[in-house]
Amino acid sequence: MAIRKLTEYPAEVLGIVGKPVEKFDDELRVLCDDMFETMYDAEGVGLAAPQIGLNLRLFVMDCEGVKLIAANPQIIAADGEQTGQEGCLSVGKVPAVVTRPMKATLRAQDEKGEWFEREAEGYAARAFLHETDHCDGMLFIEHLPKLRCDMLVKKFLKEKKLR
Ligand code: NI
Repeated sequence: MAIRKLTEYPAEVLGIVGKPVEKFDDELRVLCDDMFETMYDAEGVGLAAPQIGLNLRLFVMDCEGVKLIAANPQIIAADGEQTGQEGCLSVGKVPAVVTRPMKATLRAQDEKGEWFEREAEGYAARAFLHETDHCDGMLFIEHLPKLRCDMLVKKFLKEKKLR
């Protein structure tokens, strides 16, 4: 296992739709192990492949008891509403309040290529939505009003410079 380098805003790979995962082989399993290790090291609850520079529809998460690998993820149902803090390892974990559905159902393939569906609520549902967005080339800051998005980006870039 290895910790991979995190890709940060404004890297191009974070803004493009990922390619489908087609091979469910040992290479993919090693990649997923590395993604988990990278996520835990950064104290995140989810990590998508574009966040380590790979243009791939794949994420891992471990959030409120929901630990899974999702290849080719889709949100097939969403219901209700929640408003709460969210952050992203690719935007330096600068927090922002985002409104999302309260419940979400994820359809994806596991590391063996088996399709599964999983429903989650609250923070785990938020992670489903946030990570699936990454696979579609979308960052959580794009859910914010333009002015708040600009402010957050400015704050992040300033902090990045000081590192
Ligand atoms: Ni993120």
